[in-house]
Amino acid sequence: MSKPRVFVTRLIPEKGLHMVQEFCHCEVWTDETPPPYEVLLEKAKGVDGLLSLLTDRIDLNLLDAAGPSLRVISQMAVGTDNIDIPAATARHIPVGNTPGVLTETTADFAWALLMAAARRVVEGEKFVQAGRWKTWGPTLLMGQDVHGATLGIIGFGRIGQAVARRARGFSMRILYSDPQRRPEAEIETGAEYATQDELLVKADFITLHTPLTQETYHLISEAQLRVMKPSAVLVNTSRGGVVDPDALLTALHEGWIAAAALDVTEPEPIPADNPLLQLENLIIVPHIASASVQTRSTMAKMAAENLIAGLKGEKLPYCANPEVYQ
Ligand code: DGY
Repeated sequence: MSKPRVFVTRLIPEKGLHMVQEFCHCEVWTDETPPPYEVLLEKAKGVDGLLSLLTDRIDLNLLDAAGPSLRVISQMAVGTDNIDIPAATARHIPVGNTPGVLTETTADFAWALLMAAARRVVEGEKFVQAGRWKTWGPTLLMGQDVHGATLGIIGFGRIGQAVARRARGFSMRILYSDPQRRPEAEIETGAEYATQDELLVKADFITLHTPLTQETYHLISEAQLRVMKPSAVLVNTSRGGVVDPDALLTALHEGWIAAAALDVTEPEPIPADNPLLQLENLIIVPHIASASVQTRSTMAKMAAENLIAGLKGEKLPYCANPEVYQ
């Protein structure tokens, strides 16, 4: 029997790639940057499976281009906002993702950004690199205390809760807002439920952990930034579209808040001439919150498992549209 045909949209860690190569006849896009949309349409034609990344737009048009042979889409990410899930479901195509595995790694990184922005680590490093360190300075690069402060977590799913667990070590008061109240997580983490408005006003650190949906697009915009404390630090490891970049630029420039740290931006990647990159009180890193060797390797393995299960006609072990099986 001939092997199923698959397109893998980038070089993924060995562990997963090997599994896919063993089971499928696969073409791998080996460029550093994603296949342009037109190329993706071409490559998807007639494949049985797609192993995608969050940088690939998988829309109705693409499903049409792939045609009826497409049996599974397996995304190496937990977020699937780049995929038209209802359209895939309507065509009975299961979509796999990689939940759970990156929770702790992403929470670690949210903390790395929070600490770095609070204590001006990146500014300090640039200061030393530039040869500006002349002496110990009594007011040099003063930041915000983390211990004992109030942490506001917007979106209290797996990652938000993992961030909260870490906050206990810093004796923080933890507030969370979420579409639903989470009594068990409140007991486990000591977090208190708050409305988003209340959280924005009271928190010293605000960290975002919502998926990107129509409801969360530009959730943090001018009105929200204006009510935060002038000493507040905003951290985003969710999706760039959750924060309005123009409003953030003004907020940081005019001192409505003290600092921000972004793992994700709108657009992504952020162009080198974007004025946000001129701000000293903003840290931007290239969407690397889940990028530990161990986690990315496990994500690749999970994506391969999903892909292979879909090709075999089995239920995906990690499925983003379980309704497809109803
Ligand atoms: C995801 O998985 O959605 C992250 O943004 C990248 O790991």
